[in-house]
Order: sequence, then structure tokens, then C-alpha cells
Amino acid sequence: MSQGQRPGRSAPPAHVAIIMDGNGRWAQMRGLPRQEGHRRGLEALRGAVRHAGDLGIRILTLYSFSTENWRRPAAEVSFLLSLLRRFVEKDLSELHAAGVRVRIIGSRDDLAADLRRLVEHAETVTRDNTRMTLVVAFNYGARDEIVRAARRIAMDVAAGLIEAAAVDEAMLASHLDTADLPDPELVIRTSGETRISNFLLWQAAYAEFVFSPVLWPDFDRAALEDAIAEYGRRERRFGGLSETADRSVGAA
Ligand code: IPE
Ligand code: IPE
Ligand code: MG
Repeated sequence: MSQGQRPGRSAPPAHVAIIMDGNGRWAQMRGLPRQEGHRRGLEALRGAVRHAGDLGIRILTLYSFSTENWRRPAAEVSFLLSLLRRFVEKDLSELHAAGVRVRIIGSRDDLAADLRRLVEHAETVTRDNTRMTLVVAFNYGARDEIVRAARRIAMDVAAGLIEAAAVDEAMLASHLDTADLPDPELVIRTSGETRISNFLLWQAAYAEFVFSPVLWPDFDRAALEDAIAEYGRRERRFGGLSETADRSVGAA
């Protein structure tokens, strides 16, 4: 069967991570302020959580504010912070009722104390929900996450709690913000950009990447289904050989 006819897997990926990009361009194209793009982006985020649940995705990770996004104008940064606050305040009860466990990854040090408390509250309230996990990457940067993990391990070594020789991949992974989560099988980026922008550098080591031209506010159920279908046509090899590969060595 040719690549184009490959029927694809029937099971959806368990963990999908999305770089939600293109809010600003969506607004710009309509002569609207960037804030309007972010507002519509939040609507798309709500839709994505619903659709992911319907499609059987167990974990959805959404990149909503990077450690580099502080470089934007102060007014845009504070609007994005207020959107997170509003999202947690307004949507928590609905998410909880729908059986969604909420997790926030990223550095909390730079967040205002009240926002930090709000985030902790959302995590505590939804802790035992099992239908789906929504991971919001906020003030998240993968390099920052790895540095924080390395620092904690270094402190344990310095305190004599662990041997340096005991540091391995599993230990490092267990010190990341995503400690108890499986790696994403699929990473989607919207808006046509084809870069990772400091997202899940460790966890996406063997993820499949799908780049969608759709701007995030327009990313609907069909766009999500398209990305999952594309994932289904990929062959994941993890450094090994494909099922159909000729495994003979040195046959000439
Ligand atoms: C994504 O949209 C939202 C965040 C990064 C917070 P952008 O704001 O990056 O939109 P573009 O890339 O400027 O269109
Ligand atoms: C990545 O988008 C971060 C988020 C989606 C939160 P950016 O728009 O910040 O990324 P760059 O600057 O284009 O790489
Ligand atoms: Mg962008």
C-alpha cells in the first residue's frame, strides 16, 4: 500500500500538545486589536478541550504563554495574564463537572501571589478527575523547566541525598513539571510557523509534529481531526526499523 493510501491508526494519540499560535495575525487581518485575537483564541481553547475529550484524547497540553512572551508590550502581557485568570475563574466549575483534571506547567515564581493561589486551587479541586487531563503551559519555557529540574537534582547531590552517578533520564524526567505525565505523541503548531519556540524540548524527543496553516482562533474540530488523521498516517520508528524494512545486514 502506498504512503497516500495508508489507512492510519484507529486509536487517537493519548497525549496531544498544541502550540496555539496566530492570534495576533488573526486580529490584524481583520483590522482588530491583537487583544481581540487573544479573546477569540480563548474561545478556540475552550473548543479544543471539548473536541479533544470527544475524540478520546486523554491528555491535552496547551502552550498559552512562554517565558519569552514577557518581551511583548506590557499591555499585551497583562491582558494575557488577565485571560488566564478569567479562564481559571470562569471555567473551573465546568471543567470540574466534565471530569477534567487541570494542571499548570511552567515557572510560578514570576506570577502574582493571587494568580498562583488561583492556579493551585484549580489543581487541588480537580486532582481526582480522570476523564481527561488539561495541561496549561503558562510562563513555560522548556529550557527554564530543564534548568529548574537540574538545579533541584544538584541540590540533592550537594546535600548527599543522591549520588551524581544515580542521575539518569528517568530521574531528570521525574523532576520536570510534567513528572507524572506520559510524553506527547503528537505536537501540533498552528499558524504555519514551523518551529518549536522552547516548548517541551525534552518530552517531544520522539513526538510527531503536525504544522497546520490555520490561525489558532480558527482552529476547530475539523482542524484537530485533520491533525490526528495526519498523525495516523505517520510511521513511528523510535530509532528502530519499520515493520516492512529489509532487516538483512550486509546482503549485497
Ligand atoms: C499566540 O498568538 C498566543 C501567544 C503566543 C500568547 P500570537 O500572539 O503569537 O499571534 P501571532 O503569532 O502574533 O499571530
Ligand atoms: C509560542 O508562540 C508561544 C505560545 C504559543 C504561547 P510565539 O508566537 O511566542 O512564538 P515565536 O515568537 O513566533 O517563536
Ligand atoms: Mg505567535
